[in-house]
Amino acid sequence: MTNVAVIGAQWGDEGKGKVVDWLASRADVVVRFQGGHNAGHTLVVGNETYKLSLLPSGLVRGKLGVIGNGVVVDPEALLAEIARVQGQGLKVSPETLRISESATLILPFHPALDKAREAARGDAKIGTTGRGIGPAYEDRVARRAIRVADLAEPETMALKLDELLRHYNTLLRELGVETFTKEAMLAHLLALAPKILPFAEPVWERLDTLRKEGKRILFEGAQAVMLDVDHGTYPFVTSSNTVASAAASGSGVGPWAVGFVLGIAKAYTTRVGSGPFPTELFDETGRKLGERGFEFGTVTGRPRRCGWFDAAMVRQAVKIGGIQGLVLTKLDVLDGMPELKICTGYRINGERSRHLPAGMAAQAAALPEYETIEGWSGSCRGARSWVDLPAQAIKYVRRIEELVEAPITLVSTSPERDDTIMVRDPFEG
Ligand code: GDP
Ligand code: IMO
Ligand code: MG
Repeated sequence: MTNVAVIGAQWGDEGKGKVVDWLASRADVVVRFQGGHNAGHTLVVGNETYKLSLLPSGLVRGKLGVIGNGVVVDPEALLAEIARVQGQGLKVSPETLRISESATLILPFHPALDKAREAARGDAKIGTTGRGIGPAYEDRVARRAIRVADLAEPETMALKLDELLRHYNTLLRELGVETFTKEAMLAHLLALAPKILPFAEPVWERLDTLRKEGKRILFEGAQAVMLDVDHGTYPFVTSSNTVASAAASGSGVGPWAVGFVLGIAKAYTTRVGSGPFPTELFDETGRKLGERGFEFGTVTGRPRRCGWFDAAMVRQAVKIGGIQGLVLTKLDVLDGMPELKICTGYRINGERSRHLPAGMAAQAAALPEYETIEGWSGSCRGARSWVDLPAQAIKYVRRIEELVEAPITLVSTSPERDDTIMVRDPFEG
Protein backbone atom coordinates (compact mmCIF):
# COMPACT_ATOMS: atom_id res chain seq x y z
CA MET A 1 0.00 0.00 0.00
CA THR A 2 1.25 3.42 -0.88
CA ASN A 3 0.31 7.06 -0.46
CA VAL A 4 -1.42 8.82 -3.35
CA ALA A 5 -1.11 12.36 -4.72
CA VAL A 6 -3.96 13.74 -6.81
CA ILE A 7 -3.13 16.57 -9.22
CA GLY A 8 -4.93 18.32 -12.08
CA ALA A 9 -3.63 17.53 -15.58
CA GLN A 10 -5.28 20.42 -17.46
CA TRP A 11 -6.25 23.94 -16.30
CA GLY A 12 -8.11 23.04 -13.11
CA ASP A 13 -11.66 21.96 -12.27
CA GLU A 14 -11.07 18.46 -13.62
CA GLY A 15 -13.00 16.91 -10.72
CA LYS A 16 -10.12 16.52 -8.24
CA GLY A 17 -12.51 17.04 -5.31
CA LYS A 18 -14.79 14.20 -6.36
CA VAL A 19 -11.83 11.86 -6.87
CA VAL A 20 -10.20 12.80 -3.56
CA ASP A 21 -13.52 12.27 -1.76
CA TRP A 22 -13.91 8.87 -3.42
CA LEU A 23 -10.36 7.80 -2.53
CA ALA A 24 -10.56 9.27 0.99
CA SER A 25 -12.66 6.39 2.27
CA ARG A 26 -9.48 4.32 2.19
CA ALA A 27 -7.05 7.01 3.38
CA ASP A 28 -6.30 8.08 6.95
CA VAL A 29 -5.41 11.70 6.29
CA VAL A 30 -5.90 14.17 3.43
CA VAL A 31 -3.29 16.90 2.93
CA ARG A 32 -3.52 20.16 0.96
CA PHE A 33 -0.02 21.26 -0.06
CA GLN A 34 -0.35 24.32 -2.34
CA GLY A 35 -2.77 26.97 -3.51
CA GLY A 36 -5.37 28.57 -1.30
CA HIS A 37 -9.02 29.53 -1.52
CA ASN A 38 -8.62 30.10 -5.26
CA ALA A 39 -9.43 26.37 -5.43
CA GLY A 40 -13.04 25.24 -5.59
CA HIS A 41 -13.70 21.53 -5.14
CA THR A 42 -17.29 20.29 -5.48
CA LEU A 43 -18.33 17.04 -3.82
CA VAL A 44 -21.76 15.52 -4.35
CA VAL A 45 -22.86 13.02 -1.72
CA GLY A 46 -26.48 11.98 -2.08
CA ASN A 47 -28.60 15.11 -1.75
CA GLU A 48 -25.82 17.17 -0.23
CA THR A 49 -23.31 19.25 -2.25
CA TYR A 50 -20.16 20.46 -0.53
CA LYS A 51 -18.08 23.25 -2.03
CA LEU A 52 -14.64 23.32 -0.47
CA SER A 53 -11.92 25.86 -1.13
CA LEU A 54 -9.33 25.59 1.61
CA LEU A 55 -10.48 22.60 3.59
CA PRO A 56 -9.08 19.22 2.51
CA SER A 57 -11.84 17.19 0.80
CA GLY A 58 -11.28 14.23 3.16
CA LEU A 59 -13.13 16.10 5.93
CA VAL A 60 -16.41 15.10 4.28
CA ARG A 61 -15.50 11.46 5.05
CA GLY A 62 -14.57 12.40 8.60
CA LYS A 63 -10.86 11.97 7.85
CA LEU A 64 -8.14 14.08 9.41
CA GLY A 65 -7.43 17.13 7.23
CA VAL A 66 -4.03 18.80 7.09
CA ILE A 67 -3.20 22.18 5.52
CA GLY A 68 0.49 22.15 4.69
CA ASN A 69 3.10 24.89 4.73
CA GLY A 70 2.79 25.32 0.95
CA VAL A 71 -0.78 26.60 1.23
CA VAL A 72 -1.58 30.32 1.51
CA VAL A 73 -4.25 30.62 4.18
CA ASP A 74 -6.78 33.43 4.37
CA PRO A 75 -7.84 33.13 8.03
CA GLU A 76 -11.16 34.90 7.53
CA ALA A 77 -12.02 32.76 4.50
CA LEU A 78 -11.02 29.65 6.44
CA LEU A 79 -13.24 30.49 9.41
CA ALA A 80 -16.16 31.32 7.10
CA GLU A 81 -15.71 28.00 5.25
CA ILE A 82 -15.54 26.08 8.52
CA ALA A 83 -18.79 27.74 9.68
CA ARG A 84 -20.44 26.99 6.33
CA VAL A 85 -19.62 23.27 6.28
CA GLN A 86 -20.45 22.95 9.97
CA GLY A 87 -23.88 24.25 8.96
CA GLN A 88 -24.03 21.28 6.57
CA GLY A 89 -23.33 18.92 9.44
CA LEU A 90 -19.58 18.33 9.04
CA LYS A 91 -17.33 18.19 12.09
CA VAL A 92 -14.39 20.58 11.83
CA SER A 93 -12.37 21.18 14.99
CA PRO A 94 -8.73 21.17 16.04
CA GLU A 95 -9.14 17.39 16.35
CA THR A 96 -10.03 17.00 12.66
CA LEU A 97 -8.06 19.85 11.07
CA ARG A 98 -4.38 20.72 11.53
CA ILE A 99 -2.68 23.70 9.92
CA SER A 100 1.04 24.12 9.39
CA GLU A 101 2.53 26.75 11.64
CA SER A 102 4.70 27.84 8.70
CA ALA A 103 1.88 28.44 6.23
CA THR A 104 1.71 31.97 4.82
CA LEU A 105 -1.31 34.11 5.71
CA ILE A 106 -3.41 36.01 3.20
CA LEU A 107 -4.33 39.39 4.70
CA PRO A 108 -6.77 42.08 3.44
CA PHE A 109 -4.11 43.97 1.45
CA HIS A 110 -3.42 40.87 -0.69
CA PRO A 111 -6.81 40.68 -2.46
CA ALA A 112 -6.84 44.50 -2.62
CA LEU A 113 -3.60 44.50 -4.64
CA ASP A 114 -4.60 41.42 -6.66
CA LYS A 115 -7.79 43.15 -7.84
CA ALA A 116 -6.21 46.57 -8.36
CA ARG A 117 -3.42 45.07 -10.49
CA GLU A 118 -5.88 43.08 -12.57
CA ALA A 119 -7.94 46.22 -13.18
CA ALA A 120 -4.80 48.09 -14.23
CA ARG A 121 -3.85 45.33 -16.68
CA GLY A 122 -7.04 45.91 -18.66
CA ASP A 123 -7.24 43.51 -21.62
CA ALA A 124 -3.95 41.90 -20.60
CA LYS A 125 -5.43 40.68 -17.29
CA ILE A 126 -4.64 37.16 -16.07
CA GLY A 127 -8.19 36.61 -14.90
CA THR A 128 -7.16 35.72 -11.35
CA THR A 129 -9.71 34.75 -8.74
CA GLY A 130 -8.96 38.08 -7.00
CA ARG A 131 -8.30 36.34 -3.71
CA GLY A 132 -4.80 37.60 -3.11
CA ILE A 133 -3.03 34.35 -3.96
CA GLY A 134 -0.29 35.92 -6.12
CA PRO A 135 0.63 38.73 -3.69
CA ALA A 136 0.72 36.31 -0.73
CA TYR A 137 3.15 33.98 -2.53
CA GLU A 138 5.22 37.00 -3.52
CA ASP A 139 5.55 37.92 0.17
CA ARG A 140 6.57 34.38 1.01
CA VAL A 141 9.56 34.40 -1.36
CA ALA A 142 10.31 38.02 -0.50
CA ARG A 143 10.66 36.88 3.14
CA ARG A 144 8.23 39.41 4.54
CA ALA A 145 5.13 37.20 4.95
CA ILE A 146 3.23 36.88 8.22
CA ARG A 147 2.89 33.16 8.87
CA VAL A 148 0.53 31.16 11.06
CA ALA A 149 3.08 30.87 13.90
CA ASP A 150 3.48 34.66 13.98
CA LEU A 151 -0.09 34.95 15.26
CA ALA A 152 1.32 33.96 18.66
CA GLU A 153 3.92 36.74 18.50
CA PRO A 154 2.38 40.27 18.47
CA GLU A 155 5.80 41.90 18.28
CA THR A 156 6.79 39.89 15.23
CA MET A 157 3.54 40.83 13.51
CA ALA A 158 4.04 44.52 14.31
CA LEU A 159 7.57 44.39 12.92
CA LYS A 160 6.52 42.62 9.73
CA LEU A 161 3.57 44.94 9.24
CA ASP A 162 5.97 47.89 8.98
CA GLU A 163 7.66 46.37 5.96
CA LEU A 164 4.46 44.91 4.49
CA LEU A 165 2.52 48.17 4.67
CA ARG A 166 5.43 50.19 3.28
CA HIS A 167 5.32 47.82 0.30
CA TYR A 168 1.55 47.52 -0.14
CA ASN A 169 0.53 51.08 0.60
CA THR A 170 3.07 52.41 -1.92
CA LEU A 171 1.62 50.16 -4.63
CA LEU A 172 -2.02 50.69 -3.66
CA ARG A 173 -1.61 54.47 -3.54
CA GLU A 174 -0.04 54.38 -7.01
CA LEU A 175 -3.00 52.33 -8.27
CA GLY A 176 -5.50 54.76 -6.70
CA VAL A 177 -6.80 52.29 -4.12
CA GLU A 178 -7.42 52.76 -0.41
CA THR A 179 -4.46 52.00 1.83
CA PHE A 180 -4.26 50.12 5.16
CA THR A 181 -3.16 51.25 8.63
CA LYS A 182 -0.89 49.31 10.93
CA GLU A 183 -3.27 49.73 13.88
CA ALA A 184 -6.21 48.25 12.00
CA MET A 185 -4.16 45.35 10.61
CA LEU A 186 -2.63 44.51 13.97
CA ALA A 187 -6.05 44.59 15.66
CA HIS A 188 -7.39 42.35 12.87
CA LEU A 189 -4.57 39.82 13.39
CA LEU A 190 -4.84 39.87 17.17
CA ALA A 191 -8.57 39.14 16.91
CA LEU A 192 -7.94 36.22 14.53
CA ALA A 193 -5.07 34.70 16.55
CA PRO A 194 -7.12 32.84 19.21
CA LYS A 195 -9.39 31.40 16.51
CA ILE A 196 -6.60 30.09 14.27
CA LEU A 197 -3.84 29.09 16.71
CA PRO A 198 -5.69 26.05 18.15
CA PHE A 199 -5.38 24.45 14.68
CA ALA A 200 -1.66 25.23 14.29
CA GLU A 201 1.18 22.75 14.70
CA PRO A 202 4.31 21.47 12.99
CA VAL A 203 2.36 19.23 10.61
CA TRP A 204 5.58 17.68 9.26
CA GLU A 205 5.97 15.98 12.63
CA ARG A 206 2.44 14.56 12.61
CA LEU A 207 2.85 13.35 9.02
CA ASP A 208 6.13 11.67 9.95
CA THR A 209 4.44 9.86 12.85
CA LEU A 210 1.44 8.82 10.76
CA ARG A 211 3.71 7.53 8.02
CA LYS A 212 5.71 5.46 10.51
CA GLU A 213 2.46 3.99 11.84
CA GLY A 214 1.68 2.82 8.30
CA LYS A 215 -1.21 5.27 7.86
CA ARG A 216 -2.24 6.16 4.32
CA ILE A 217 -1.77 9.76 3.23
CA LEU A 218 -3.72 11.29 0.36
CA PHE A 219 -2.27 14.52 -1.03
CA GLU A 220 -4.89 16.77 -2.59
CA GLY A 221 -3.63 19.09 -5.30
CA ALA A 222 -5.37 22.30 -6.31
CA GLN A 223 -5.25 23.97 -9.74
CA ALA A 224 -3.34 21.90 -12.33
CA VAL A 225 -0.09 21.33 -14.21
CA MET A 226 -0.94 23.85 -16.94
CA LEU A 227 -1.50 26.48 -14.21
CA ASP A 228 1.86 25.65 -12.55
CA VAL A 229 3.97 28.79 -12.09
CA ASP A 230 6.96 27.19 -13.87
CA HIS A 231 5.44 24.64 -16.23
CA GLY A 232 2.08 26.16 -17.12
CA THR A 233 1.00 28.70 -19.72
CA TYR A 234 2.99 31.50 -18.04
CA PRO A 235 2.06 34.26 -17.21
CA PHE A 236 -1.53 32.96 -17.31
CA VAL A 237 -0.93 30.66 -14.35
CA THR A 238 -1.37 30.60 -10.60
CA SER A 239 1.52 31.45 -8.27
CA SER A 240 2.40 28.01 -6.91
CA ASN A 241 3.91 24.76 -8.15
CA THR A 242 1.01 22.41 -8.75
CA VAL A 243 2.99 19.34 -9.78
CA ALA A 244 3.16 16.28 -7.52
CA SER A 245 6.67 17.05 -6.30
CA ALA A 246 5.19 20.13 -4.58
CA ALA A 247 3.32 17.74 -2.26
CA ALA A 248 6.63 16.94 -0.56
CA SER A 249 7.94 20.48 -0.09
CA GLY A 250 4.44 21.83 0.57
CA SER A 251 3.78 19.52 3.50
CA GLY A 252 7.19 18.62 4.86
CA VAL A 253 7.69 15.01 3.79
CA GLY A 254 10.38 13.42 1.62
CA PRO A 255 9.76 13.09 -2.14
CA TRP A 256 9.55 9.31 -1.81
CA ALA A 257 6.64 9.65 0.64
CA VAL A 258 4.36 11.18 -1.98
CA GLY A 259 3.53 7.78 -3.44
CA PHE A 260 1.48 7.08 -6.56
CA VAL A 261 0.81 10.16 -8.68
CA LEU A 262 -2.72 10.30 -10.01
CA GLY A 263 -3.50 12.93 -12.65
CA ILE A 264 -7.08 14.07 -13.24
CA ALA A 265 -8.32 15.13 -16.68
CA LYS A 266 -11.76 15.87 -18.04
CA ALA A 267 -12.83 13.97 -21.16
CA TYR A 268 -12.74 17.40 -22.85
CA THR A 269 -11.00 20.64 -21.81
CA THR A 270 -12.04 23.73 -19.87
CA ARG A 271 -10.30 26.82 -18.61
CA VAL A 272 -11.32 29.79 -16.43
CA GLY A 273 -9.46 33.07 -16.77
CA SER A 274 -7.30 34.32 -19.63
CA GLY A 275 -4.51 32.63 -21.57
CA PRO A 276 -3.90 30.32 -24.50
CA PHE A 277 -6.30 27.44 -25.13
CA PRO A 278 -5.57 25.80 -28.49
CA THR A 279 -8.64 23.52 -28.60
CA GLU A 280 -11.13 26.14 -27.41
CA LEU A 281 -14.50 26.03 -29.21
CA PHE A 282 -16.40 29.22 -29.87
CA ASP A 283 -19.30 27.50 -31.60
CA GLU A 284 -22.46 25.62 -30.69
CA THR A 285 -20.44 22.53 -29.64
CA GLY A 286 -18.47 24.58 -27.11
CA ARG A 287 -21.66 26.10 -25.77
CA LYS A 288 -23.20 22.65 -25.47
CA LEU A 289 -20.21 21.27 -23.54
CA GLY A 290 -20.49 24.18 -21.10
CA GLU A 291 -24.19 23.67 -20.65
CA ARG A 292 -24.10 19.87 -20.29
CA GLY A 293 -21.00 19.91 -18.10
CA PHE A 294 -22.40 22.77 -16.03
CA GLU A 295 -19.12 24.60 -16.57
CA PHE A 296 -19.22 27.56 -14.21
CA GLY A 297 -16.31 28.37 -11.89
CA THR A 298 -16.90 27.07 -8.35
CA VAL A 299 -15.13 30.08 -6.83
CA THR A 300 -16.06 32.99 -9.09
CA GLY A 301 -19.13 31.68 -10.95
CA ARG A 302 -17.51 32.70 -14.26
CA PRO A 303 -18.49 30.54 -17.24
CA ARG A 304 -15.62 28.20 -18.11
CA ARG A 305 -14.20 28.25 -21.63
CA CYS A 306 -14.73 24.83 -23.25
CA GLY A 307 -13.00 22.83 -25.98
CA TRP A 308 -11.96 19.40 -27.26
CA PHE A 309 -9.69 17.05 -25.33
CA ASP A 310 -6.08 18.11 -25.84
CA ALA A 311 -4.02 14.92 -25.68
CA ALA A 312 -0.80 16.75 -26.53
CA MET A 313 -1.23 18.99 -23.51
CA VAL A 314 -2.19 16.16 -21.16
CA ARG A 315 0.79 14.12 -22.42
CA GLN A 316 2.98 17.08 -21.48
CA ALA A 317 1.30 17.28 -18.06
CA VAL A 318 1.85 13.53 -17.57
CA LYS A 319 5.57 13.90 -18.15
CA ILE A 320 6.09 17.12 -16.18
CA GLY A 321 3.80 16.17 -13.32
CA GLY A 322 5.15 12.64 -13.01
CA ILE A 323 1.64 11.26 -13.51
CA GLN A 324 1.57 7.46 -13.22
CA GLY A 325 -2.15 6.95 -13.73
CA LEU A 326 -4.83 9.14 -15.24
CA VAL A 327 -8.43 9.60 -14.13
CA LEU A 328 -10.78 10.60 -16.93
CA THR A 329 -13.79 12.52 -15.58
CA LYS A 330 -17.06 13.80 -17.06
CA LEU A 331 -17.19 11.18 -19.81
CA ASP A 332 -20.99 11.38 -19.49
CA VAL A 333 -20.95 14.97 -20.74
CA LEU A 334 -19.98 13.66 -24.19
CA ASP A 335 -23.04 11.36 -24.40
CA GLY A 336 -24.92 11.85 -27.65
CA MET A 337 -22.25 13.91 -29.42
CA PRO A 338 -22.13 12.58 -33.01
CA GLU A 339 -18.42 13.17 -33.42
CA LEU A 340 -15.51 13.94 -31.10
CA LYS A 341 -12.12 15.47 -31.78
CA ILE A 342 -8.85 14.85 -29.96
CA CYS A 343 -5.87 17.18 -30.36
CA THR A 344 -2.71 15.17 -31.04
CA GLY A 345 -0.24 18.04 -31.58
CA TYR A 346 0.06 21.61 -32.81
CA ARG A 347 1.04 23.67 -35.78
CA ILE A 348 2.90 26.76 -34.61
CA ASN A 349 3.86 29.37 -37.20
CA GLY A 350 3.90 26.68 -39.89
CA GLU A 351 5.99 24.18 -37.85
CA ARG A 352 4.62 21.02 -36.26
CA SER A 353 5.08 20.56 -32.51
CA ARG A 354 4.12 17.70 -30.21
CA HIS A 355 4.09 19.99 -27.19
CA LEU A 356 3.24 23.54 -26.12
CA PRO A 357 6.47 25.55 -26.08
CA ALA A 358 7.28 28.01 -23.27
CA GLY A 359 7.17 31.27 -25.26
CA MET A 360 4.09 33.39 -24.70
CA ALA A 361 3.62 34.32 -28.39
CA ALA A 362 4.34 30.76 -29.54
CA GLN A 363 1.69 29.41 -27.13
CA ALA A 364 -0.84 31.94 -28.38
CA ALA A 365 -0.10 30.91 -31.99
CA ALA A 366 -0.53 27.14 -31.40
CA LEU A 367 -3.18 25.66 -33.67
CA PRO A 368 -4.51 22.19 -32.85
CA GLU A 369 -4.10 19.18 -35.12
CA TYR A 370 -7.06 16.88 -34.65
CA GLU A 371 -8.07 13.34 -35.18
CA THR A 372 -11.78 12.64 -35.31
CA ILE A 373 -13.48 9.79 -33.54
CA GLU A 374 -17.10 8.70 -33.77
CA GLY A 375 -19.30 9.48 -30.76
CA TRP A 376 -21.81 7.16 -29.07
CA SER A 377 -25.56 7.15 -28.84
CA GLY A 378 -25.86 5.25 -25.52
CA SER A 379 -25.21 6.77 -22.08
CA CYS A 380 -22.17 6.72 -19.82
CA ARG A 381 -23.98 8.61 -17.06
CA GLY A 382 -23.73 6.79 -13.75
CA ALA A 383 -21.71 3.85 -15.12
CA ARG A 384 -19.81 1.99 -12.37
CA SER A 385 -18.13 -0.66 -14.45
CA TRP A 386 -16.54 -1.00 -17.86
CA VAL A 387 -19.40 -3.15 -19.16
CA ASP A 388 -21.87 -0.31 -18.52
CA LEU A 389 -20.09 1.89 -21.07
CA PRO A 390 -21.04 2.06 -24.76
CA ALA A 391 -18.36 0.31 -26.90
CA GLN A 392 -17.50 3.54 -28.68
CA ALA A 393 -16.95 5.34 -25.34
CA ILE A 394 -14.45 2.63 -24.37
CA LYS A 395 -12.72 3.19 -27.72
CA TYR A 396 -12.50 6.94 -26.96
CA VAL A 397 -10.99 6.28 -23.52
CA ARG A 398 -8.50 3.76 -24.95
CA ARG A 399 -7.40 6.17 -27.67
CA ILE A 400 -6.80 8.87 -25.07
CA GLU A 401 -4.80 6.39 -23.00
CA GLU A 402 -2.55 5.69 -26.00
CA LEU A 403 -2.05 9.35 -26.87
CA VAL A 404 -1.32 10.66 -23.36
CA GLU A 405 1.11 7.79 -22.63
CA ALA A 406 -0.33 7.03 -19.19
CA PRO A 407 -2.66 4.23 -18.09
CA ILE A 408 -6.26 5.16 -17.31
CA THR A 409 -6.75 4.30 -13.63
CA LEU A 410 -10.30 5.53 -12.99
CA VAL A 411 -13.19 6.86 -15.04
CA SER A 412 -15.83 9.18 -13.55
CA THR A 413 -19.32 9.18 -15.02
CA SER A 414 -21.33 11.65 -12.90
CA PRO A 415 -20.77 14.15 -10.07
CA GLU A 416 -21.98 11.51 -7.57
CA ARG A 417 -19.32 9.99 -5.35
CA ASP A 418 -19.86 6.35 -6.34
CA ASP A 419 -20.38 6.80 -10.07
CA THR A 420 -16.79 5.83 -10.68
CA ILE A 421 -15.16 2.97 -12.58
CA MET A 422 -11.99 1.65 -11.00
CA VAL A 423 -9.55 0.13 -13.47
CA ARG A 424 -6.67 -0.06 -11.05
CA ASP A 425 -6.41 0.77 -7.34
CA PRO A 426 -4.00 3.72 -6.97
CA PHE A 427 -3.25 2.74 -3.33
CA GLU A 428 -1.78 -0.51 -4.71
CA GLY A 429 0.87 1.66 -6.41
P1 GDP B 1 -11.86 20.41 -9.02
O1 GDP B 1 -11.53 21.84 -8.84
O2 GDP B 1 -10.87 19.68 -9.86
O3 GDP B 1 -12.15 19.69 -7.72
O4 GDP B 1 -13.22 20.38 -9.84
P2 GDP B 1 -14.54 21.27 -9.56
O5 GDP B 1 -15.25 20.68 -8.41
O6 GDP B 1 -14.20 22.72 -9.50
O7 GDP B 1 -15.33 21.07 -10.91
C1 GDP B 1 -15.70 19.82 -11.37
C2 GDP B 1 -17.24 19.80 -11.53
O8 GDP B 1 -17.63 18.64 -12.24
C3 GDP B 1 -17.97 19.72 -10.20
O9 GDP B 1 -19.17 20.43 -10.32
C4 GDP B 1 -18.23 18.22 -10.03
O10 GDP B 1 -19.39 17.95 -9.26
C5 GDP B 1 -18.46 17.81 -11.46
N1 GDP B 1 -18.05 16.44 -11.80
C6 GDP B 1 -16.98 15.72 -11.33
N2 GDP B 1 -16.91 14.53 -11.95
C7 GDP B 1 -17.94 14.49 -12.84
C8 GDP B 1 -18.37 13.53 -13.80
O11 GDP B 1 -17.78 12.48 -13.99
N3 GDP B 1 -19.48 13.86 -14.54
C9 GDP B 1 -20.13 15.03 -14.39
N4 GDP B 1 -21.20 15.26 -15.16
N5 GDP B 1 -19.74 15.97 -13.50
C10 GDP B 1 -18.66 15.70 -12.74
P1 IMO C 1 -9.21 24.21 -8.68
O1 IMO C 1 -8.38 23.69 -7.52
C1 IMO C 1 -9.45 26.67 -12.25
C2 IMO C 1 -6.91 30.23 -12.38
C3 IMO C 1 -7.60 31.57 -12.40
C4 IMO C 1 -6.62 32.37 -13.21
C5 IMO C 1 -5.27 31.83 -12.72
C6 IMO C 1 -4.60 32.66 -11.66
O2 IMO C 1 -10.64 24.37 -8.37
O3 IMO C 1 -8.94 23.42 -9.92
P2 IMO C 1 -5.07 33.00 -9.05
O4 IMO C 1 -6.27 33.52 -8.34
O5 IMO C 1 -4.67 31.62 -8.65
O6 IMO C 1 -3.91 33.95 -9.03
O7 IMO C 1 -5.53 32.94 -10.61
O8 IMO C 1 -5.53 30.52 -12.23
N1 IMO C 1 -7.29 29.34 -11.25
C7 IMO C 1 -8.08 28.27 -11.38
N2 IMO C 1 -8.75 27.80 -12.45
N3 IMO C 1 -9.49 26.00 -11.08
C8 IMO C 1 -8.80 26.44 -10.01
O9 IMO C 1 -8.68 25.73 -8.88
C9 IMO C 1 -8.09 27.65 -10.12
N4 IMO C 1 -7.32 28.38 -9.27
C10 IMO C 1 -6.85 29.39 -9.99
O10 IMO C 1 -8.85 31.48 -13.04
O11 IMO C 1 -6.74 32.05 -14.58
MG1 MG D 1 -12.40 23.70 -9.05
